[in-house]
Amino acid sequence: MKTKMIIILLIFTILPLTSCNGNSDKEKTDSIQTPLPSKEDSQMLLLEKLTLDLPEEIRKAILDDVNGFMNQISLVLKLPSDTFLQADKQHFLGADYSPVDIVMLTDYPEMTLSRNNHSLREILISDLLLMIEDAREEGLTLVISSTYRTYQYQDKLFKWNVEQNGLETAMRESAKPGTSQHQLGTAIDFGSITDEYAFTAPGKWLLENAWKYGFSLSYPDGYEDVTGYRYECWHFRYITTAGTELQRTYFGDIQHYMIAFLNDHRIELERLL
Ligand code: DAL
Ligand code: ZN
Repeated sequence: MKTKMIIILLIFTILPLTSCNGNSDKEKTDSIQTPLPSKEDSQMLLLEKLTLDLPEEIRKAILDDVNGFMNQISLVLKLPSDTFLQADKQHFLGADYSPVDIVMLTDYPEMTLSRNNHSLREILISDLLLMIEDAREEGLTLVISSTYRTYQYQDKLFKWNVEQNGLETAMRESAKPGTSQHQLGTAIDFGSITDEYAFTAPGKWLLENAWKYGFSLSYPDGYEDVTGYRYECWHFRYITTAGTELQRTYFGDIQHYMIAFLNDHRIELERLL
């Protein structure tokens, strides 16, 4: 009985193996007749298609260095996808969206806070502390003025902005509830939250250095048509250093293009890594 079982088991184990070998021989013959495109060719073909809607200089930067681009984007695609969630005028987070790893900033005495109830996602704290420390070594204080906002808080803020400035102006500088990057828990407004901040020493320092710590300027000057908001020299979103490097090298340093590209094409890109 035992011997019979062993023979049956052997037949079931060996048969598929031999048929598999048979197939791979056939595949080898087939591939000699009609060679499959190489991985590099497939990546180039895909990127030629996926970059069609991007500005010409960004498309060129990617297509001129497909290998480097795929290497760098692969690092970003390995990170949790919620790090790159879209929150803008076309992408609604929903009233219930709230990150799970929110921490109170009063737990970090190194931080200079405009008030005591600021909070952010834990994923960015170590990079933020590093940035604060490096700025401080140059004699600069980075004041944290606005951080995580709930849907309900953003709702009040947007309504207040409309009352103060009218709908048209409010729409250019305040997000409707459910669409603010502040609801992600990874956006920070620094300093005075005014245009003048760009001309202060900490404001200038941030514009030059924040990317080294994974913080990206969300609403750059001259891109209102793309981002939906006027220039905000004070508003940075944490997208990790892999993210800011990818953004600077291949996306003209425009966060909106990179985040949209990642979200629109994640599955196709992952398939080709
Ligand atoms: N000021 C930005 C657009 C916000 O309200 O989220
Ligand atoms: Zn902001």
